[in-house]
Amino acid sequence: EQMAKELLDPLALIKDEVSEISNRLRSMVVAEVPELTLAAGYFFRAGAEGKRTCPTVLLLMASSISMDMADPIVGSKNEIRERYMRLAEITELIHVTSLIHDDVLDDANTRRGMDSLNCVMGKKLAVLAGDFLLSKAFSTAAVSLDNAEVILLLATAVNNLVTGEFMQMRITPIQRCSMDYYLQKSYYKTAALISNSCKAVAVLAGQTAEVATLAYQYGKHLGIAYQLIDDILDFTGTSASLGKGSLSDIHQGIVTAPILFAMEEYPQLRVIVEQGFDDPSNVDAALAYLARSKGIERTRLLAAEHAKLAADAIDALPESKDGSVLISRQALKDLTEKLIKRTK
Ligand code: FPP
Ligand code: MG
Ligand code: MG
Repeated sequence: EQMAKELLDPLALIKDEVSEISNRLRSMVVAEVPELTLAAGYFFRAGAEGKRTCPTVLLLMASSISMDMADPIVGSKNEIRERYMRLAEITELIHVTSLIHDDVLDDANTRRGMDSLNCVMGKKLAVLAGDFLLSKAFSTAAVSLDNAEVILLLATAVNNLVTGEFMQMRITPIQRCSMDYYLQKSYYKTAALISNSCKAVAVLAGQTAEVATLAYQYGKHLGIAYQLIDDILDFTGTSASLGKGSLSDIHQGIVTAPILFAMEEYPQLRVIVEQGFDDPSNVDAALAYLARSKGIERTRLLAAEHAKLAADAIDALPESKDGSVLISRQALKDLTEKLIKRTK
């Protein structure tokens, strides 16, 4: 009975692979200089690795689109599984790089409930540690993936991360009031990495363009839903529960969906948002409007819509009767549900 349950639990099925990925990442981030090794390995230490959502999603996606390996060009089943794992490692390296550099840009002191790397080792070393990790990501891609299209997708993801961060940094008052601008920025900053990596899984699998697009859509909507919930939690969560600052967005002058929805209800709020939040009384005023509005509620509904679109992409995959394929697809859908209910 217990055994049967374990076999059916998709997360249990990939547990060993996820911990192998963690181990490989730890051994991969060794640099010539000990201090750089220390910095680069900071978020890969046991207990510092975070939720490891990227590898989990990518391995489940791989299982979700797996098909008969009749074509010898794609390699044996284990060989291809190895390549999915390398891709998951690369994605995690890029993800951690983006967090390290983001904390430098944001002057953040905490990350994953710990001191940020810039806080522990200074921002100069944090910048270099990020650069080092990025080089590891692409050298691994070159050596282990041997697929120019996949490497291009990963480069696109990094390009999008930079663009999203830039869009946030150099925003005009008009752009700050635009929901379209906010959603585009959120896609780049949060969803582009997972969406392009999901697509990369399909490309590595030699799947059709249609399946690749569905994999991409899943990652895209999952990422946007994630960011919308993140933006809610910045208003409703506590620093202790989030492992990072709360109300940090608005204090940094970053306007997110809850405020944008509140602005639709209270047009007076637009003047405040256009002025920006250098003046603390503008923060207080915006928070007061938000509290009276349906901003949080409507953001939650929008997140649920994106979660639904993510699940729809999974449902549109070609029919399969393979038990492990079906379990993995269900797990990806469950993940979207869990994500919109998360409180940290
Ligand atoms: C977090 O946003 C930001 C990101 C995940 C993307 C950061 C991207 C860069 C720094 C561009 C460079 C990236 C690479 C890979 C070279 P946030 O500050 O809103 O969220 P937080 O609350 O997690 O800090
Ligand atoms: Mg930040
Ligand atoms: Mg930031």
